[in-house]
Amino acid sequence: MDGQRHRWRCADDLRAGDQGDAGRSILGVEAFTRRLWSEQNRHEGDRLRLFRAVHKAVPGRTVLYPGSFVDIAASAVYPSVTYVDIDKRAPRFFADTGGITEIIAEMGGNRDHVVEFIHADYRDDIDVETESFDLLLSLYAGFVSEHCTQYLKAGGTLLVGPSHGDAAMASIDPRYQLSGVVTSRSGNYKVSTDRLDTYLVPKRPIALTPALLHERGRGIAYTKSPFAYLFTKVAAS
Ligand SMILES: C[S@@+](CC[C@H](N)C(=O)[O-])C[C@H]1O[C@@H](n2cnc3c(N)ncnc32)[C@H](O)[C@@H]1O
Repeated sequence: MDGQRHRWRCADDLRAGDQGDAGRSILGVEAFTRRLWSEQNRHEGDRLRLFRAVHKAVPGRTVLYPGSFVDIAASAVYPSVTYVDIDKRAPRFFADTGGITEIIAEMGGNRDHVVEFIHADYRDDIDVETESFDLLLSLYAGFVSEHCTQYLKAGGTLLVGPSHGDAAMASIDPRYQLSGVVTSRSGNYKVSTDRLDTYLVPKRPIALTPALLHERGRGIAYTKSPFAYLFTKVAAS
């Protein structure tokens, strides 16, 4: 890792800044931060709806989000989120702590939430405690589960999208058991635990191995296509 790390509590920024009439912070958001967030949030509120639905099913406290880019919607829902990304723009975004605090507040986030950003390749040692997180997020960012399951508590949950092959990777990882699926209809998300045996069934027979998934670098065609999967970590790393 390159040593860039920010950790703060939204409330600290809010105490430092002025408060508007309605008790809302009037801390500024840097133009750079606002622009990146607008791009990230172009389907307005989409990720917020996703994380709210996931939170109902997985109400943990601590979240690790490797390959997050600037997807800070999780912080509007979960009290402590650690973001990890290698992108050059991410450190500048996360350094605008007042701006991020403001955006999280705009999404209705609690003012006592802890936000941490680590500028690193998640495949390296990212210097966080092993088995310490309740929820691990893997969304469009490669084989997060392969490298970061070590940081998830036993009994914790992996939320993983089917792209990049990481859901398939989790499906053959003996540490994981499928515990739910996230479906999406017109931008509304729902977690379901019904008939889980009917998911992760390949359309064509295929002998999945980590090597094959690395070689393909993309997901597997399954007979059902939920937005994402929830896996419970059933064995220690
Ligand atoms: C397509 S974006 C997805 C961002 C976010 N997860 C989302 O769903 O909107 C992929 C992000 O993963 C990051 N990424 C990919 N591989 C990474 C790695 N090995 N370590 C850290 N970040 C990585 C990229 O820098 C990029 O910001």
